[in-house]
Amino acid sequence: MARRVMVVGGGGREHALVRHLAASPRNPEIFALPGNPGTRALARNLPGDPLDRNQVLAACREHAIDLVLIGPEDPLIAGLADHLRHAGIAVFGPGHLGARLEGDKEFAKDVLATAGIPTPSYHAFSTLDAALRHLATMTMPCVVKACGAAQGKGVAVCDAKSEAAAHLRLCLEDRAFGDAGARVLIEECLFGRELSVLVVTDGQDYALLAPSRDHKRVGEGGTGGNTGGMGAFAPVPLTAELCRRIDTEIVAPLLAELVRRDIPYRGVLYAGLMLTDTGPQVLEFNCRFGDPETQVVLPLMDCDFLELVQTTATGRLADYLQGLPDAETGGPDGWPGRGLTDWRRGAVVVVAASRGYPGPYQTGRPLELPADEPAAWVIHAGTGERDGRLVTAGGRVVGCVGEGADLATARSRAYALLDRVRCDNLFHRRDIALDAERTTA
Ligand code: AMP
Ligand code: GLY
Repeated sequence: MARRVMVVGGGGREHALVRHLAASPRNPEIFALPGNPGTRALARNLPGDPLDRNQVLAACREHAIDLVLIGPEDPLIAGLADHLRHAGIAVFGPGHLGARLEGDKEFAKDVLATAGIPTPSYHAFSTLDAALRHLATMTMPCVVKACGAAQGKGVAVCDAKSEAAAHLRLCLEDRAFGDAGARVLIEECLFGRELSVLVVTDGQDYALLAPSRDHKRVGEGGTGGNTGGMGAFAPVPLTAELCRRIDTEIVAPLLAELVRRDIPYRGVLYAGLMLTDTGPQVLEFNCRFGDPETQVVLPLMDCDFLELVQTTATGRLADYLQGLPDAETGGPDGWPGRGLTDWRRGAVVVVAASRGYPGPYQTGRPLELPADEPAAWVIHAGTGERDGRLVTAGGRVVGCVGEGADLATARSRAYALLDRVRCDNLFHRRDIALDAERTTA
């Protein structure tokens, strides 16, 4: 079993990953590259750029790392997992072929179409003229998406044609997202509630973690611009029938299609779904853990997270799953990976962000955080240090996590902790997980 584990990345998701690896009874030694002030309490932070594959490999060699978990999408899309695997290191995270599901939305659409998985209809364009001509024939609303990974800014849900045309110009004419916007999808807009499903797979077997929901808009009631996520909760109460459809209509055919295409995948595949009146549809895939979904899904795990990561990275997930209890508390009958996460409990994260986010914001403001408690703790996302003192250093600064016997308890713990964060430049949404306990059919 791995003893020296590296987490690549330095945001809230990576702090959560480090925290749950550190809870392993196997007492691993954990490294974070580059990590953040939150990971420093549990891991050794190593300087380095996750996009510099040789630097990451050199750090692995220097510290005799035997297992690497890659957090963010950019290094995965750039092939960091392939590079480390080639050097003999076990990696949790897909190679560049699998990461294309996130890095190339047109490719993802092709995989979905071949696998017969429900997804909004679309057209792809690489010239502004052709895209605008198509737009003229459409009824609104529609969704315009840069095909490549654009740091979460490539998607615009448009009510008016003028808005859609502006986003098309931003991508195709201004090249605001560089090559990531050189090709664009214009997609049918779906309505319903969103759901994040995290599938852990080693390419042969798979398990689903408890479903979660992110709150993407900056404003209360789901208003204002899209953000990286202002809060999340898990589990989302779903009917057994909906769980069955998610597994049989989406996850199983997707993984079968990856096998058919000879695309190896060891890591987590995040399916972003819209639950529509006619059933679940795929809006997007990510090739990594969700941020901030990870912060609320991992606290529901009763099992050793390190062992899950290790068996997945080494192609032995089946061994791990065999040892799981078939607990009724871990999802409906037949849910793959039942017993992995406890669906009776609840976890909620509320993000405190710098004023102005997702637009321009100030950083470097003094920050004081409350101490962690057994059922509520602070996850660092955009924090830094100046003269030995904690300061804000990003848009999403910290996430306050609460867990409990149900979502309402988890929610009140998260907000009680957030009330004790001291900083003069933060704001948060007060409605995270507010209607969480309503079951979605
Ligand atoms: P993506 O980066 O593809 O996840 O898109 C970001 C967000 O845009 C999603 O989480 C949804 O809230 C929204 N979105 C994307 N595609 C659609 C669609 N076809 N219909 C409605 N909303 C969408
Ligand atoms: N929470 C959305 C994402 O991780 O992409």
